[in-house]
Amino acid sequence: MPYPVAGESPRDTPQWSALAQHAKEIKQTDLRRLFAQDPHRLDWSTLEVGPLYLDLSKNLITQESLRLLLGLAEARYLPEAIGAMLRGEHINVSEDRAVLHTALRHGATIAGPIDGIDVDHEVELVLSHMEEFVRSVRSNLRVGVTGKPFETIVNIGIGGSDLGPEMVTMALQDFSDPNRSMHFVSNIDPVAIGSIFKTCDPETTLFVVVSKTFGTLETLTNATAARQWLSQALADHPGAIEKHFVAVSTNEALVREFGIDPQNMFGFWDFIGGRYSVDSAVGLSIMLAIGPERFRSFLHGFAAIDEHLREAPLSENAPVLLGLLAVWYRNFFGAQSQAVLPYSERLARFPAYLQQLTMESNGKSVRLDGTTVDYGTGAIYWGEPGTDGQHAFYQLLHQGTILVPADFILFGEPLGGPDPQQDLLFANGLAQTRALAFGRNEEELEALGVPAALRPARRMPGNRPTTTIVAQRLTPEVLGALIALYEHSVFTQGVIWGINSFDQWGVELGKELASELVPTLSSPSVPTLDTLDASTIELVSRYRHMR
Ligand code: F6P
Repeated sequence: MPYPVAGESPRDTPQWSALAQHAKEIKQTDLRRLFAQDPHRLDWSTLEVGPLYLDLSKNLITQESLRLLLGLAEARYLPEAIGAMLRGEHINVSEDRAVLHTALRHGATIAGPIDGIDVDHEVELVLSHMEEFVRSVRSNLRVGVTGKPFETIVNIGIGGSDLGPEMVTMALQDFSDPNRSMHFVSNIDPVAIGSIFKTCDPETTLFVVVSKTFGTLETLTNATAARQWLSQALADHPGAIEKHFVAVSTNEALVREFGIDPQNMFGFWDFIGGRYSVDSAVGLSIMLAIGPERFRSFLHGFAAIDEHLREAPLSENAPVLLGLLAVWYRNFFGAQSQAVLPYSERLARFPAYLQQLTMESNGKSVRLDGTTVDYGTGAIYWGEPGTDGQHAFYQLLHQGTILVPADFILFGEPLGGPDPQQDLLFANGLAQTRALAFGRNEEELEALGVPAALRPARRMPGNRPTTTIVAQRLTPEVLGALIALYEHSVFTQGVIWGINSFDQWGVELGKELASELVPTLSSPSVPTLDTLDASTIELVSRYRHMR
């Protein structure tokens, strides 16, 4: 049967029932025993993919668990689904679109044009346009209207048009041009754009307005405020807006209407979802920061994982295995959340980036044909860099009453050159995975001389699953590979659940209601129960008194 497997519940497959039965057995054992019973555990539970090493051994699995999970993947036609995505079939059914972020990095080849577009060629054209622009800015050939080089880049966007550029620019700041400062404005809170006006010099500021639709309220409001600020400040210099504003969008008409020259617009396509767009023209600010060569390395990182997704058998396919583990914990252990814990200061925004990628993708409760799911789907992703998290929320991970599977991301080499502090960072990450997996039992506490009365509080149950991902150093290539790993894990989960990981209708209603409420806040007439609910009427009236 071809993809999609719409309408069928994965619960109705024999593989699901077998997994449910198997999970009961796994719950009777623990990681100490699993490690002791299988001296070859690492042989089947670790893998190297591109620049990444993955250790799945501290998960609550045996070889049998993997065999059964892989059976479920086959039963849900995962290989067919991967093929359908890479071939550009319209797997985003509610928007009737292809899903082609893999085409941005040329890793997984696509034969022929898709929807009448020669995708490879178009991707390359946009990349060349970006490179030409970035080189001219970085070499100070392209300057502001008063002839001064651009020292400040302000990216205005939200969601996928902000999180990716911001997270990557922060992560790769050690590879960035030290002569330019990067800022990201997303929130409609006036404080956000206001701080740009307070600290930046209009003569040396370049605004990159990023919006797939060019219709997003927050982005257009902030961009309009920026346009006003700049045109006032540079009122004596005609043509300031053309020089100081560029756009990244799929909507040329609206970009033109805003006053940005379409020659200064960098395009992408409907088949690139916002949360999958960091490696498209949406990454223009990243390229401005790190330069075209490093941006290409970033793309190579993605491509390595794309090729791996396409070529590796399911049993050795890293993103597939990560996705299956997510399903394992979500559906058979009742886990509601997944922690992502990068042992890297530079990856501080990585969990926030993953929140959009994972939760906007798999926060769904109907299948592709509109039938309602009768099982859990997307988990809550969250996290903070270690070691800060250790001193905040790890207590609950160790001794709390809920199961939170966690991904630990560790690096061998510090970014600033050899440093003994890196040993401390790495050791801390490793120690946490050990404590979570193996805990500390009654006998060990006794051997340590802990009085019996204190032992319950100090007992560490262990048996808390973790995956460890290790890379040499946080380079552009490694970061690209990491992102692609999660992108394809998300897809794997969505396929198992039979949901559409590429639409996001759930965020639309709030946007609509906000536009309806804006005039109400300043209207002289009192809203009534015919138009609003009692709670909202009261809150509106309180707001009116405060404003
Ligand atoms: O919040 C919904 C959403 O559509 C995201 O999917 C998207 O990344 C974000 O808004 C921004 O949209 P745009 O790039 O069109 O401004």
